[in-house]
Amino acid sequence: MFHESFCESKRVKGDGAAAPFGSSRKARRVPVCYRFLFETKRFRVKAEVLAKRASKATENSSKTGKPTELANQPERRYASFDEEEAPVVARNTRRADENWVGAREPAATPVDMRGVFGPGGLLERSMIGGYEHRVAQLEMAEVVHDAFQSRHHAIVEAGTGTGKTLAYLLPAICSGRRVVISTATKSLQEQLYEKDIPFLQKHFAPNLKVAVMKGRANFLCRAKLHQMADSPMLKGMEELDAFRQMREWAKLTETGDRAELTFLPDDSELWARLDARRDTCTGQKCSDFNECFVTAMHGRAREADLIIVNHHLFFADLALKHDDFGSILPEYSAVVFDEAHEIEDVASDYFGRQISNYRFEELARDADQTLRISKLGSPALLRRTQRIRERSRTFFDAFPPRDGRFPFSRQEREAFIEQHHEAYTGLTDALKSMETEFAALMQKPEELTRLGRRSFELRQELSFLFESNERNFVYWFERRNKGVFLAATPIDVSQILRERLFEQFDTVVLTSATLTVGNRFDYIRQRLGLDNAKERTLPPEFHYGEQALFYLPQGMPDVREAGFASKAADEILRLLELSEGRAFCLFTSYAQMKDLYERVSARCCWNGSRPRRTQFCSRRRVSGREWTCQANSFRV
Ligand SMILES: Nc1ncnc2c1ncn2[C@@H]1O[C@H](COP(=O)(O)OP(=O)(O)OP(=O)(O)O)[C@@H](O)[C@H]1O
Ligand code: SF4
Ligand SMILES: [Mg+2]
Repeated sequence: MFHESFCESKRVKGDGAAAPFGSSRKARRVPVCYRFLFETKRFRVKAEVLAKRASKATENSSKTGKPTELANQPERRYASFDEEEAPVVARNTRRADENWVGAREPAATPVDMRGVFGPGGLLERSMIGGYEHRVAQLEMAEVVHDAFQSRHHAIVEAGTGTGKTLAYLLPAICSGRRVVISTATKSLQEQLYEKDIPFLQKHFAPNLKVAVMKGRANFLCRAKLHQMADSPMLKGMEELDAFRQMREWAKLTETGDRAELTFLPDDSELWARLDARRDTCTGQKCSDFNECFVTAMHGRAREADLIIVNHHLFFADLALKHDDFGSILPEYSAVVFDEAHEIEDVASDYFGRQISNYRFEELARDADQTLRISKLGSPALLRRTQRIRERSRTFFDAFPPRDGRFPFSRQEREAFIEQHHEAYTGLTDALKSMETEFAALMQKPEELTRLGRRSFELRQELSFLFESNERNFVYWFERRNKGVFLAATPIDVSQILRERLFEQFDTVVLTSATLTVGNRFDYIRQRLGLDNAKERTLPPEFHYGEQALFYLPQGMPDVREAGFASKAADEILRLLELSEGRAFCLFTSYAQMKDLYERVSARCCWNGSRPRRTQFCSRRRVSGREWTCQANSFRV
């Protein structure tokens, strides 16, 4: 019988509570061991898994804060391992697990990544028939593993298709630390959770606990659902039908994540009235708090070994450390940024200030809804919210009508306020009077107090955007479809990230296929404030000259012309035929992606199950092969 072990250390403080990590905040660590068994089907005997469980001694020591000898020897509880598909390992195979056992004390017995990623290693034995020895992948895993063990930052560039995901996930698991994995989009989060994590749980760490965290607007608010069921304010049969489906779904779903509602359009107004945004949440005062999907997500994250987030959530947490639930993310020990070339832009958004006409409209909408539900919607109060709506429209209409993003220098802002003084003060006065009216209400629900606070915050943002002149910010406005956005973005986030991220955590790993400029990391390191990090650039696994074709279609109309979509559909269909359905189509907008998805789908014969559609991704099978459409936020 062969076995492998993964180990982890649970963080404990003297009082048994989770301890904060970071250079200035030290925590003791109590090791907990994961072990699992590999065996041949031929010689299969009753196999057992060592479940992760801290011993009584461990629990006690965590309560008293005193380490004991026994704390290093957690009680082992065995459970049967009935996985029929367990990897087949010859009985006389060298025991690579000897390395893993040492992971309980990483410094004493270093784990050998070659035993995992190298020829004949664990990966080869798990990916039966599919494994390729990828030199760059092994090297990356060694760099990342070293960063976790020696506690330093690392930055690794490795080409697309190297297998970077496993090259950071396996060292992260092996470190025994709670690691946050941050990636660029929700669909990449789902890919990690649905593909790579189950593979690791099946073959390497069956007791590994993983949580996915997304922004609150992705989750259903039970309180709002109940309120709406009591006094429905639905527009038309379509909303009524969608609402009925949501109510049924709410009884069954474990996560409350809107990604499960495949029928719901991305810009669903109904969802916007039912989501769990922080703005409208009363936190622990809510009677649904214990059953709340957001509470459950936080609970899963607190138990997890790995927490998968997207960069937006990560930097929202870093920027706003506290909300009613405490921090958004629980305490963690290390971070891996996949697609790390995106983090500067995202961090800039979260450390900057931004308002839009949508925020004022949402405030008025939420106020109306709360007033009506709480039966406080007197005509006078409803006039206040209506006034915010009207004044906001007047103010934002004062911006030039053309779409695009434009600088908004100090002189331009001053001139704007001078010219549109009435619109500006009209809006701030409308907010102020609503706050005053709400404050004067004697018996009011918590939601109204929070709405007053939101209104006050909006006034502060307005005043910052028009009246401040901080040197480190660039001011701009943008008109996009029906939205007008005003923003102040930090020119340089390096000092913020240095202080709040790289000096707080001893292990931050950054990886992507595109991080260097002129083969050097200097630029990104300087932009991010990453002063000390081990760095590595790894060669691509592909021979692009031999394995890739570059094709530039001739005679395409301009993307803004009406004929573009139909010509693009023709091209995609031709390419799908040539590649026998293997294709990945990347778009710059969701509207374009959906349009082309419909056009192409209608004309190709496909088999297999119904295509899966998420907010970001559309897939379809052609001749048994899958083609995928993805919209992303950058232009190629
Ligand atoms: N050693 C290996 N042998 C065979 N397949 C592998 C190996 N390692 C990873 N893979 C597979 O290779 C594919 C690409 O892996 P992954 O998505 O991690 O690449 P990546 O380096 O992150 O690329 P990108 O930069 O495009 O995100 C996945 O399907 C993964 O399961
Ligand atoms: S705790 Fe907040 S998000 Fe959760 S159900 Fe209550 S109000 Fe909604
Ligand atoms: Mg990747």
